[in-house]
Order: sequence, then C-alpha cells, then structure tokens
Amino acid sequence: MWRSIISFLFFSVALCQPFLFQKRSSNISDFISFNASLPNVTIFAMGGTIAGYASSSTETVDYAAGSVGIATLVDAVPAIKNFSNIRGVQVTNVGSEELTPANVLNLTQLILAEVAKPDVHGIVVTHGTDSLEETAMFLDMTVNTTKPIVVVGAMRPSTAISADGPMNLLNAVVVAASNRSIGRGTMILLNDRIGSAFYTTKTNGNMLDTFKSYEAGFLGMILDQRPHFFYSPATPTGKVHFDVSNTTELPAVEILYGYQGLNPNLAKAAVDLGAKGLVLAGMGAASWTDPGNEVIDGLISNQSIPVVYSHRTMDGFSDYYYNGIPSYFQNPQKARYMLMLSINAGYSIQNITDIFSLEY
Ligand SMILES: *[C@@H]1O[C@H](CO)[C@@H](O)[C@H](O)[C@H]1NC(C)=O
Ligand SMILES: *[C@@H]1O[C@H](CO)[C@@H](O)[C@H](O)[C@H]1NC(C)=O
Ligand SMILES: *[C@@H]1O[C@H](CO)[C@@H](O)[C@H](O)[C@H]1NC(C)=O
Ligand SMILES: *[C@@H]1O[C@H](CO)[C@@H](O)[C@H](O)[C@H]1NC(C)=O
Ligand SMILES: *[C@@H]1O[C@H](CO)[C@@H](O)[C@H](O)[C@H]1NC(C)=O
Ligand SMILES: *[C@@H]1O[C@H](CO)[C@@H](O)[C@H](O)[C@H]1NC(C)=O
Ligand SMILES: *[C@@H]1O[C@H](CO)[C@@H](O)[C@H](O)[C@H]1NC(C)=O
Ligand SMILES: *[C@@H]1O[C@H](CO)[C@@H](O)[C@H](O)[C@H]1NC(C)=O
Ligand SMILES: *[C@@H]1O[C@H](CO)[C@@H](O)[C@H](O)[C@H]1NC(C)=O
Ligand SMILES: *[C@@H]1O[C@H](CO)[C@@H](O)[C@H](O)[C@H]1NC(C)=O
Repeated sequence: MWRSIISFLFFSVALCQPFLFQKRSSNISDFISFNASLPNVTIFAMGGTIAGYASSSTETVDYAAGSVGIATLVDAVPAIKNFSNIRGVQVTNVGSEELTPANVLNLTQLILAEVAKPDVHGIVVTHGTDSLEETAMFLDMTVNTTKPIVVVGAMRPSTAISADGPMNLLNAVVVAASNRSIGRGTMILLNDRIGSAFYTTKTNGNMLDTFKSYEAGFLGMILDQRPHFFYSPATPTGKVHFDVSNTTELPAVEILYGYQGLNPNLAKAAVDLGAKGLVLAGMGAASWTDPGNEVIDGLISNQSIPVVYSHRTMDGFSDYYYNGIPSYFQNPQKARYMLMLSINAGYSIQNITDIFSLEY
C-alpha cells in the first residue's frame, strides 16, 4: 500500500509535470528535437509509473509547475532522438485505476485528430499498467487507422534499481516510428514484448513480465531497438470498429463477479443504479448460478438489458450461455468496453450478439 502511494505521489507530483505545459500545434517548434529524416511520433501521457523515470528523486521534490518541459522526459532517454521526432501532450495525470471512460474517450478523440495529420507516423500512449489493457482495447476498437498506436507502461518506478520505464518508452517510440508496425492495430509494449491490445492482459500485479497473451501469443518482440514481428500484419478475428468521433458520454456498464452463493439481486441493483448493460465474470467458462440466471433473464426479457457472459478465469472461451450474450475470448474488462461501445452505437441485443459472435 505505502509502496503504491509513494510511487503514485512520485510520479504524479513530479514526473508528469514536464508534460503539463506543452502547447499543442503542428509545427516544428513543438518538437523536442527535430531531424528532417526521422519520422514523427506523438506521445500522449496519461500518468502512471512509466513517467517516474524522468528525473531523480531529489528533483521530484523540487519541481515547480511549469519549470520543466517534456524535454526532461526525452532527455532521460537520449536514444529516443535517434529514432523519432517527439511531440508530447499531457492528457491526464493519474494512476490508471483512477481513469474513467470519459478520460479514455477524450484520449481517443485526441488520437483520432492526431492520426489524421499526414506528418504523424505513430502514437505512443504512456499509461499506468493497472487498467492499461482497457484503454488499449478501447483505442483498438475506436481508432480506425493503419498507423501504429503503442500503449506503454512500467512496473517499477524510477527510484528502483533497474527501472523498466526508460527502455519500455524507448522501445515504444521505436515501434511507433517503424514502418514494420503499420497495420497492426493498437499494441501493448512492456518487457520487450509486443502484444495485440485485443488479446493482451495484465496477469500479475507485481512482476515485470506481467503482460501476456497466452492463447493468441505475442505479435513480436524488440531487440536492440529493432522490432521483430512473427507474422505479417493481421486483424484479430472479430475486431469491429466503432465511431466515437461525436460521442460525448458513454453508457454505464457494470461488471459482476461470479462465486459460490452470489447474491442474484446485485444484477438488479446495478440496473437500478443506472447500468445500461452488464458483464458477468462467470465461474469457469462463464457459469452463473440458477437463481442468478433467473434474475438476469428477467433483466434481458423485461428491461432489454444486454448481458454479456464472460469468465473470471484469465483465459477461456465463453459461449452459449442462457439468454445472454457470450463474450467468447474477451475477458470481462475488455468485453465491458465492447458492450459499452455497442450500446453507444445504438445496437440491439441481437446486433450485439452478432458482433461478439464474430469471434466464434
Ligand atoms: C509555430 O508555432 C509557434 C508558436 O505556436 C508560432 O509562433 C510560429 O509562428 C509557428 N511557426 C510556423 C512556421 O507555423
Ligand atoms: C538525422 O537522422 C539521420 C538518420 O537517422 C542520421 O543519419 C543523421 O545523422 C541525423 N542528423 C543529426 C543532425 O542528428
Ligand atoms: C545516436 O546515434 C548516433 C549516431 O549513430 C550515436 O553516435 C549516438 O550514440 C546515438 N545516441 C544514443 C543516445 O544512442
Ligand atoms: C482531455 O485532454 C485534454 C488535453 O488535450 C486535457 O486538458 C483534459 O483534461 C482531458 N479531459 C479528460 C476528461 O480527460
Ligand atoms: C515531421 O513533421 C514535420 C513538421 O510537420 C514535417 O515537415 C515532416 O515532413 C514530418 N516527417 C515525416 C516523415 O512525415
Ligand atoms: C517508411 O515508409 C515511408 C512511406 O512509404 C517511406 O517514405 C520511408 O522511407 C520508410 N521509412 C523507412 C525507414 O523505411
Ligand atoms: C476503417 O477504415 C477502412 C480503411 O479506411 C475502411 O474501409 C473501413 O470502412 C473503416 N471501418 C469503419 C468501421 O469505419
Ligand atoms: C459527426 O458530426 C459531424 C458534424 O456534425 C458529421 O458531419 C458527422 O457525420 C458525424 N459523424 C457521425 C459518425 O455521426
Ligand atoms: C417479467 O416481468 C413479469 C411482470 O412483472 C414477471 O411476471 C416475469 O416473471 C418477469 N420475467 C422474468 C424472466 O423475470
Ligand atoms: C442490426 O440489426 C438489424 C436488424 O437485423 C440490421 O438491419 C442491422 O444491419 C444490424 N446492424 C449491425 C451493425 O449489425
């Protein structure tokens, strides 16, 4: 607990400050460094431990608002300037457990505008790792671009020996700047491995090798600042795009956890509290209790609430569950954004079932 508070304070007080006062526009003076023969990458900073490397602990205490530029961040990893010209934008400044769908929608709309600029080669998003896969999944489904989008974080704050942030950030920029990364959707990069946002999940709260994609596998790896991809660009089966360019607010969707003797009426309570859809983190491949299913059936047939059956196990394939919508490969937190975007698009329960079924 103290460790996370300390690392949170460390990054939030000090290390995101460098970004805060960057002005956004699109001329060369916005670049931290510029070399006409290099591609342009824009970094969107959301917060998280990754930002914790930029400076020593002494400097974190001494920071005053506006006294440091994004150059500090890049200066800590000088090799970045050999791969890309960097623009930086501070979007939020929080640990990723504090991020909301509103923050993620905002980020999406900023990225939509950025990838539309012909001079931008790729995007890097620096992010806390706890909910990183949720933001990455949302971007994968809402930013319809062939330009590389790389979401990166770190497991160790900069005060730690062998902090992973600097190398992760360098690698993320390298991947975003590379032509080899084009057409691969949103990617998650930590610990030298490149994964698809659609499948990659955080598997361990503490270890460096936490981001995994056990069933689908990784897209590639990076060694000596060179991305190596195992396959040519491909789109995950069942990936759909949602247009959120005009969306101002996303519908509430809640996740309920499955366990022995669960209270069936929590589902009803969630709907009474405003949920427009539910995702169940069911037992095994998606099991829910008989009394629970009765309540769920009522919500579906009487209140037209779409309910997605997913699994509390990390991997698995949830299909054919009662009257609900199976999530197939999607874990609850990713299925939640897929359901939220579907409801936002005005889709019927049948439409939503069809969309999830594309993975079948
Ligand atoms: C670049 O932006 C700066 C400040 O935003 C502005 O003063 C300058 O005129 C711009 N230069 C060009 C070439 O647009
Ligand atoms: C600009 O980038 C090119 C290609 O990486 C490199 O050869 C050149 O030395 C760089 N120029 C400067 C001034 O750093
Ligand atoms: C950047 O590239 C130049 C030319 O290859 C090299 O001398 C320099 O060491 C590189 N800088 C870093 C920080 O890797
Ligand atoms: C949206 O992004 C801008 C930075 O361009 C930031 O100032 C604003 O606070 C963000 N809003 C949300 C809700 O994240
Ligand atoms: C990088 O951005 C600058 C400024 O907009 C532009 O002149 C240059 O062509 C861009 N580089 C590439 C490779 O698109
Ligand atoms: C990447 O592709 C662009 C557009 O095809 C090309 O101009 C550029 O030279 C390529 N860069 C590298 C490093 O191959
Ligand atoms: C995504 O972009 C491609 C290529 O521009 C286009 O063909 C496709 O219709 C787009 N999909 C959506 C859902 O907008
Ligand atoms: C978003 O709004 C713009 C401007 O009103 C409109 O041209 C565009 O068609 C809208 N896009 C969608 C997907 O509704
Ligand atoms: C739907 O509502 C009706 C009327 O309130 C009720 O009798 C019925 O049991 C409900 N259906 C389910 C599946 O709960
Ligand atoms: C939703 O369902 C209706 C009726 O079957 C169909 O016409 C429409 O194309 C579906 N939309 C999507 C996005 O699947």
